[in-house]
Order: sequence, then C-alpha cells, then structure tokens
Amino acid sequence: MAAGDAHDLRARYDAATADLEPPLAIIDMAAFRANADDLVRRAGDTPVRLASKSVRVRSLLEAVLQRPGFGGVLAYSLAEAVWLADHGVDDIVMGYPSVDRPSLRRIADEESLAAAITLCVDDVGQLDFLTAVLGPGHAVVRLCMDIDTSWRPLGLYVGARRSPVRSPAQASELAQEIKRRPGFRLVGVMTYEAQIAGIPDAGAAVRWMKSRSAREIDRRRRRVLDAISSDADLEFVNAGGTGSLEVSAAGDGVTEVTAGSGLFGPTLFDQYRTFRPVPAVAFALPVLRRPGPRTVTVAGGGYPASGPAGWSRLPTPYLPPGLRVLRTEGAGEVQTPLRGREADALSLGSRVWFRPAKAAEICERFLSVHLVEGDRVVATVPTYRGESRAFG
Ligand SMILES: Cc1ncc(COP(=O)(O)O)c(C=O)c1O
Repeated sequence: MAAGDAHDLRARYDAATADLEPPLAIIDMAAFRANADDLVRRAGDTPVRLASKSVRVRSLLEAVLQRPGFGGVLAYSLAEAVWLADHGVDDIVMGYPSVDRPSLRRIADEESLAAAITLCVDDVGQLDFLTAVLGPGHAVVRLCMDIDTSWRPLGLYVGARRSPVRSPAQASELAQEIKRRPGFRLVGVMTYEAQIAGIPDAGAAVRWMKSRSAREIDRRRRRVLDAISSDADLEFVNAGGTGSLEVSAAGDGVTEVTAGSGLFGPTLFDQYRTFRPVPAVAFALPVLRRPGPRTVTVAGGGYPASGPAGWSRLPTPYLPPGLRVLRTEGAGEVQTPLRGREADALSLGSRVWFRPAKAAEICERFLSVHLVEGDRVVATVPTYRGESRAFG
C-alpha cells in the first residue's frame, strides 16, 4: 500500500474508533461490500453459499445472504446450524459430518429443522450412527455426500484428509445404502478442493498442480454424478472456496460454490494471482510500553490462525506500516513487542492495527465487531462469541 493511502486509512480507522477502547476489532464495510461483489463476480452465474466459519457474526451472515448472488449457509457445527435455523436461516448445508447427539435429536423431532439443514456423510458408519441417534420414525433427513478431491499423482497425496469416498463405485455404494434406509434422502454432493482453494499461488509448480488437480476432479466428479444419478435426486452439487471460485464454478456438474474468507480479506489471501480481496477486518491493540529504540510493546496479539503452525498464521502488524513482530518472541499471549522505525512515533495508549491470517477465527477473541463506514462506526454487532456461542 502506498504510504499516503496507509496514512489515510490509519487516520480513518483511528478517527472512527477514537471513543472506543482497544483491544477492538472492526469491519471496514466498504471493503466488505466490495469483496462480496467480487466473490459473486468471480462465481459468474453460479450462486455462492456462505461459509459461516469464515464470518462468525450472525448479523453479517444475514446481511450477506440478502445480497444478490448469495444463497444459503455452509455451517461448520451442527449446534451452529440448529442455532442459525432457530434464527430463521432456512438453507443450511453442513460442510463436515457431525456426531452431536442433542442437535441430531432436535432434527429428528422438528420437521422444520430437518427441512432447513442438510447433513454431511461420507461413510456407512455415519449412517449407522445417525440411525441409532435419530431413532425410529424421525423426520426425513437430508444428506449431502462429501467426495474426496485430493490429487494423488505417483502415490503422492495432495489435498485435505476429508472423505474416504473417492471412486464412482464407492459413491454409488453409499448412495444405494442411503436409498435403502427409510428417513434419509441424498440431496447433495460436495467436492471441496482444498489444494486449489486453500493454497496460495506461490510459483509455477503450485499453479501447475492446481490446474492438473482441477482437471482430475472435473473428470471424476462427472463420473461420480453419473454413477449415483439413478439412486439420488440431487438438488445441488457444491464445490470450492474463496481461493478457487472461478475454477470451481466452471466445474462440470457444479451448481453452487462456497466462499466466506474472501469477505474479510485476511493475509493468507494476499498471495493469490487471480484475485485480491480488500482487507476488511482489522483489530487494534494499544501500546503499553517502549522497551528500547524502534520498539514498542502492545497488549495481546497472540491470535494465531489454525492450520500448519508457522509465521504465516500469525497476525500481521498493518498500520502504521513498517512494524514487524520479533522472530524471537512472535505474537505473545498477553503482549507483543513490535520493531520498526515507526515505533518511535507511537506513544503510550496509541493503537497499532493488525490483520489476522485467516478470516473469522479472530472473532473468537472479541465479543463484538465495530462496523466502520468512512470515518464513523455505524454499528457494533456481536460475534458468535459475543452471543455466548462457541462452536469450536
Ligand atoms: C467444505 C468447505 N467448503 C468451502 C470452504 C472455503 O471457505 P472459505 O471461502 O472461507 O475459504 C472450506 C474451508 O475450509 C470448507 O471446509
């Protein structure tokens, strides 16, 4: 970012939050809206299902669902899905299997919940578990089959360990088993290609891997869909994430794509070649002390993102520009020293703004986020945590 732009942005964020005490988190709403528009543009005519794990603020979820191009939620916890359905969200697909008995029992008992929530399965064992927990005579349960999309050249494994269902024959076997069981209906298929969506375009080798993998998934997904077509009346075929929208939306048979992180624009998405979300989420920490020249220490900061541990998962000092986390200390549990020429211009109590590595995990650290329009906070809304909800 140009120095003048960084100066203006910092002045704007400082002015908007001048009456608030850090630590605090903001969403820059102009950036958030621009990111939402860009996700829809990248998806073309394919509707975008919203990954709730990458938002974790109910009012923002609801606002995005009102925007043209978005439809439905991809939830990460069944308790979350039930909670969202209780608040009126009527199209929720689970992105992962669940063994949450109390939530499953609610689905068994309440037709409206069973109609709103689609469960994720990839194993006959899960069907057995569901059958045992749901009991006899339960409401018809909607199921989505998760398909393994990993790329396996020469015995390598490139991708996430998700579903064991890989081949058309395996998919067909599971579809037939679902059809045999009363009270279950296979309505969807999911092919989340983590190695395309979740890995930045760092060099030609990664880009080559992504294009080869996309081609392999495309062919196999078509064969899987053909293999289960006589045993399921599919309503949707889901694919993708923020990092793969163009590729996923163009996939043979895909009817919807998923995205979430692109709304917040965290640092892990700075390295993709085909798109660049605008940073929309930031948090401010106050300067507590000055251990020496060119160094300040701010409160808190140790909010690493999930995934393979390393520097890329730590929050990045953002504004003023030019500050960096010390290699020897990282981002600390209760304080974080920062070094850089800008440090000498910071006084006790002034703010340093950070960007998180991933999207909404940072919401687990704050009870609310402040929505910034221009140089004003226009609303303060609770995070999931602020609504006393912790879904993992
Ligand atoms: C099943 C599934 N779909 C989609 C996504 C993409 O989400 P996002 O756009 O937030 O990266 C993820 C992320 O992990 C996922 O697990």
